[in-house]
Amino acid sequence: MNEENHYPPEQREAVYRVIAERRDVRRGFRPDPVPDDVLGRVLAAAHQAPSVGFSQPWDFIVITDRARRERIAALARRHRDQYAGELPGARARSFDRLKVESILDTPVNVVVSCDRTRGGRHTLGRRTQPKTADFSSVLAVANLWLAARAEGLGVGWVSFFDERELAAELGLPAHLEVIAYLCVGYVTEFAPEPELATAGWARRRPLSWAVHAEQYGRRGLPGEEPVDPLADVIAAIAPLDEAAMTAARERQDRMTKPRGSLGVLEDVSVRLAGLAGSCPPPLPEPACVAVFAADHGVHARGVTPWPQEVTAQMVANFLAGGAVINAFAAQGGAEVTVVDVGVAAELEPLPGLLPRKIAPGTADFTEGPAMTRDQAVAAVTAGLEVARDLVAAGNRCLITGDMGIANTTASAALICAFTGADPAEATGRGTGIDAATYARKIDVVCRGLARHRPDPADPVGVLAAFGGFEHAALAGFILGGAALHVPVILDGVIAGAAALAAAALAPDAIGACFAGHQSAEPGHAITLNHLGLRPLVDLGLRLGEGTGAVLALPLVQSAARAMRDVATFDSAGVSDKAP
Ligand SMILES: Cc1cc2nc3c(=O)[nH]c(=O)nc-3n(C[C@H](O)[C@H](O)[C@H](O)COP(=O)(O)O)c2cc1C
Repeated sequence: MNEENHYPPEQREAVYRVIAERRDVRRGFRPDPVPDDVLGRVLAAAHQAPSVGFSQPWDFIVITDRARRERIAALARRHRDQYAGELPGARARSFDRLKVESILDTPVNVVVSCDRTRGGRHTLGRRTQPKTADFSSVLAVANLWLAARAEGLGVGWVSFFDERELAAELGLPAHLEVIAYLCVGYVTEFAPEPELATAGWARRRPLSWAVHAEQYGRRGLPGEEPVDPLADVIAAIAPLDEAAMTAARERQDRMTKPRGSLGVLEDVSVRLAGLAGSCPPPLPEPACVAVFAADHGVHARGVTPWPQEVTAQMVANFLAGGAVINAFAAQGGAEVTVVDVGVAAELEPLPGLLPRKIAPGTADFTEGPAMTRDQAVAAVTAGLEVARDLVAAGNRCLITGDMGIANTTASAALICAFTGADPAEATGRGTGIDAATYARKIDVVCRGLARHRPDPADPVGVLAAFGGFEHAALAGFILGGAALHVPVILDGVIAGAAALAAAALAPDAIGACFAGHQSAEPGHAITLNHLGLRPLVDLGLRLGEGTGAVLALPLVQSAARAMRDVATFDSAGVSDKAP
């Protein structure tokens, strides 16, 4: 260690302290003005930020005029309300409780701008990476934020603006960009954690998820062995908590209703308590459906009348909000996210689409393995990372969805491999096929099984043999939810096949799973039976996308809510003796 250059311990601690204790502040501002010398020091700290080619692209516009701040607050409010109007149910309710700006509660606002042209064409570094101009202004924001914390000043960043509307109010020339709108003032206290974390809106990701050794994907902290995300997740999956389940059963018996009268929902509430390790369990909301989409090489065997392009077309439909899953999710207050794990087409980047393509479709499993073992592990890992990200983003219930033309064929093969079922019994008519196609589909599954001789004790091998990428990713998604103690509502036969893989990898993962519905596909009943899961609704659905699971969301949520809200005989003073 270089003894000469490092700061003495207490000064070093002060640096780390200000970094840890800097907060985005929205509440508790005091009206006291910020003295000019203090604001001057904070702006001087901002002005010392690093910048590309030393271009110093920032300017600071200091706003104190009340009338101007009122006009600016009105601009932000309009966009805040628009954003709120687009949120799904539970998210909208918790957003209502959040404060996202303090434009009028603070005595001074500072706008940090960026001049992307400053320094001319030869600005060192910016020519190859033009975005570095904006990055430099953001670093000025970071310096300002840290210096303000050391001065006891809270800073709240507001980004609910149409930039050009704000630029017009500030008289910004057209070549300047707005980088940040900051509300600055003294506060009564600094919260120890981000407000969005305490409000349950989002969680901090562990550092070990963010650090990679040498290449992206080799996660691990310096000096530690690389993390194997799949092994980590499997190790984190535990049986349901017996004490919480016992408490939940006892509470069900004391609730003001005849014992057992909530039927299957009593079991649901007990399992939710066991999963969370607390009674009553937390409400499983907000909820998010992840629709994993991929294509299948076995499509070439003529197992479905639908062309393969429909997978990509339906992905576009989900993203445009036009599919049945969008309608059902809107009704149930769930968000829809689409994950491309293997669609055989280039997909446009669009909001709501997570690009996680392992390959553009699997290979035909009648000719060889659908994917390599490495690809299977990559797809499982992609799924578990989606689960982790959705939970870190604040979701408390995960719902499986899928899209992939020919994926009932792959599902049938997986179900036969994991349960030993007869292909003639496990194979269904999918979207609806004629007798000749159905016979061909069964034959394809039989040939696949004969070719690969799958070993159910090797779940990665089974996934690699038959695919698809959405099955492998869904298996990871289920494992990820289970490891984080978040309930996973399974859709139909595709999710069921994936759950068989998840169960083979970590049997306790099924404790986190709720079977949303009973699909019309015959392999689904075999699967649920094998997993010991009871479907919550049985409506003859055979669509996929997550539709059956979303319909079960209010049932799972109601089971938890009843346990939280319903009075007990003792608390309500109701006699619990039947006459
Ligand atoms: C680029 C950027 C934009 C932000 N915009 C807003 C905003 O519009 N409203 C808000 O309340 N917070 C906003 N924040 C604050 C974040 O919510 C906050 O930094 C995050 O929750 C972490 O909390 P912490 O800063 O206290 O650690 C923004 C932060 C950044 C970095």
